[in-house]
Amino acid sequence: MWVCRALCGARTPTQLRRTLLPAWDRRRPAAASYSASAEPSRVRALVYEHHGDPAKVVELKNLELAAMGGSDVHVKMLAAPVNPADINMIQGNYGILPKLPAVGGNEGVGQVVAVGSSVTGVKPGDWVIPANAGLGTWRTEAVFSKEALIRVPNDIPLQSAATVGVNPCTAYRMLMDFEQLRPGDSVIQNASNSGVGQAVIQIAAALGLRTINVVRDRPDIQKLTDRLKKMGAEHVITEEELRKHEMKNFFKDVPRPRLALNCVGGKSSTELLRHLAPGGTMVTYGGMAKQPVIASVSLFIFKDVKLRGFWLSQWKKDHSPGEWTMASSPRVTQEGSAYEWLQK
Ligand SMILES: NC(=O)c1ccc[n+]([C@@H]2O[C@H](COP(=O)([O-])OP(=O)(O)OC[C@H]3O[C@@H](n4cnc5c(N)ncnc54)[C@H](OP(=O)(O)O)[C@@H]3O)[C@@H](O)[C@H]2O)c1
Repeated sequence: MWVCRALCGARTPTQLRRTLLPAWDRRRPAAASYSASAEPSRVRALVYEHHGDPAKVVELKNLELAAMGGSDVHVKMLAAPVNPADINMIQGNYGILPKLPAVGGNEGVGQVVAVGSSVTGVKPGDWVIPANAGLGTWRTEAVFSKEALIRVPNDIPLQSAATVGVNPCTAYRMLMDFEQLRPGDSVIQNASNSGVGQAVIQIAAALGLRTINVVRDRPDIQKLTDRLKKMGAEHVITEEELRKHEMKNFFKDVPRPRLALNCVGGKSSTELLRHLAPGGTMVTYGGMAKQPVIASVSLFIFKDVKLRGFWLSQWKKDHSPGEWTMASSPRVTQEGSAYEWLQK
C-alpha cells in the first residue's frame, strides 16, 4: 500500500480514509479527530499521539512546515509504502520508537524542493530517501536535516526508489554476512513472497546461489510460483510440502542449504532448521507468525546449527555511513527494478 499518493490526492479526510485505509475502515470507523485550523496548512500527515491499534490511533492532521535552517532540506514526499515495521512501531512493539506525537512511516522517496545555505550533495529536483528508521514519511512534505537523508538516482522507478532502503539492503546483508556462500550453494527461506524474500531471490540469483523458497499455500499458488521463478527463484515449495517425507529425495539433487532466512518463526522456522546443512546458520529477521523459534536439542548437538538474528537498524548503528553506500553491492540487473541503482 502507498501512502503519499493517497495523501496528496485526497481533498478531505473522508476521501483519504477511502483511498488509503480501506482495510481498516472495513473493520471499524477510522478516528475522526482532525486539525481544527480554519486555514489548513500545506502539510498533511498521518500522525499518532499514542501507541495502539493503527486503526484507532492514526489520524490525518494538518501540520506547519518547520522553518528551514542552513543544514536543512525541504522535501516533497512522492511515495511512501506501508511496511510491517510501520505497524509494529505504531503499536509500540518495535526496537526503536519515536517521540510522540509522531508521523508514521519509515520508508519512502521524496523530491528536494529547496536546500539550506550549507547543504552540499543534494540540490532541488534530487530524490532522497530516509537514512534511518523513524523519519515519519507519511506526510506530503517536510523539512529534514541533511544527515537524515540519502540521495538516490531519480531515473529509477518511483516505487523502487521508495522501497530500496530497507528490504533489499536487509536481503543483501543477510546473504553476505553470516555464511561464506559460493555460486551453486543453496539458501532456504520462508515468506519468500515478502518484500525481503523477493529481494533475496533476485540478489541470490545474481550471485549464482540456488534458492529454496517456502510460501504459504493459496488457491493461485501456480501464479505465485511462476512470478517468483521469473525473478530467479530456483524452487518454490509450500509450507505443507516442506513437512513431507519426500523432501529427503529433494535434497538428493539440491545441496542442503548452509543459510536459512526466517521471517516467520513458529513451526515454519522449525522446518527450515530441519533441512539446514550441518554447521549451517538460520538468521531470524521477522516474526510474522508471532510465535517463538523452537529448535530441538539434537540439532545443536548433532548438527551444530547456529541461530542468529539480523536488524538493519542495528547494522547501520554498527557501521559508518560510508559503509552503507552501495559500492560493494552486487551488480544485479533486473529490468526496471531498484537494483539498477546498485550498479551506478
Ligand atoms: N530485521 C530487519 O532488519 C528487517 C528488515 C526488513 C523487514 N523486516 C521484517 O521482515 C518481515 C517482512 O517484511 P516485508 O516488508 O518483507 O513484508 P511484506 O512484504 O508485507 O510480506 C509479509 C510476508 O509475511 C507473510 N506472513 C504474514 N503473516 C504470516 C503468518 N501469520 N505466518 C506466516 N507468514 C506470514 C506473508 O505471506 P502471505 O503472502 O502468505 O500472507 C508475506 O510473505 C516483517 O516482519 C518485517 O518487520 C525486518
